[in-house]
Amino acid sequence: MMRTILLATRNQDKAKELKAMLDADFEVLTMKDFGIEIEIIEDGLTYEENALIKVRALKSYVQGKDIIIIGEDSGLSVDCLNGEPGIYSARYAGENVTYTDNNEKLLKEMTGVPEEQRGASFITAIAMIFPDGCELTCEGLVRGKIVLEYCGEGGFGYDPLFIHEASGRCYGDMTKDEKNRLSHRAAAIEKAKAILEQRI
Ligand code: IMP
Repeated sequence: MMRTILLATRNQDKAKELKAMLDADFEVLTMKDFGIEIEIIEDGLTYEENALIKVRALKSYVQGKDIIIIGEDSGLSVDCLNGEPGIYSARYAGENVTYTDNNEKLLKEMTGVPEEQRGASFITAIAMIFPDGCELTCEGLVRGKIVLEYCGEGGFGYDPLFIHEASGRCYGDMTKDEKNRLSHRAAAIEKAKAILEQRI
């Protein structure tokens, strides 16, 4: 029997990637499909805490239903900036900013930093709540470096600034399929799928 997953995100870019990674094995619903329009305040101090805040916020909407809620929190941690923007990746340049505003700020903060010191990690924490109330989390991380100039026009967020170390390819140049196979989000979903398989 195909299980149903509710994704705890209103970020359509993330929802698309998560859906593509889970679609083959699960019926995947978004908050939009459910008509849920709440604003979730992410005031955790770690990616994991924020992912848990997101899934817990939706718990009451699926009470009594055979639905697994999956949420994620992600971000970019840059070595020479002591891990910034980190959990503040979405609002690095301020509240209600665009992806471009954040990218510009990041490049500005890293002005003059030589290539060998531009290392960074992209991280995704995933939290799941099962119908019996059990909560589980896992994390995916990939290493890479921040470019000196924009690369590619694909993807979203910091994608045009990140070179994925293992492939040597810029996220912004990758096809959707390629990014969905190699990304930090893919690494986290792989672990989540292993957990899901054990519990189903
Ligand atoms: P969150 O909604 O707090 O998890 O925000 C994550 C932020 O990190 C997004 O708004 C993006 O700026 C950035 N981010 C997360 N995942 C990715 C990705 O796969 N590519 C590029 N940027 C990402």
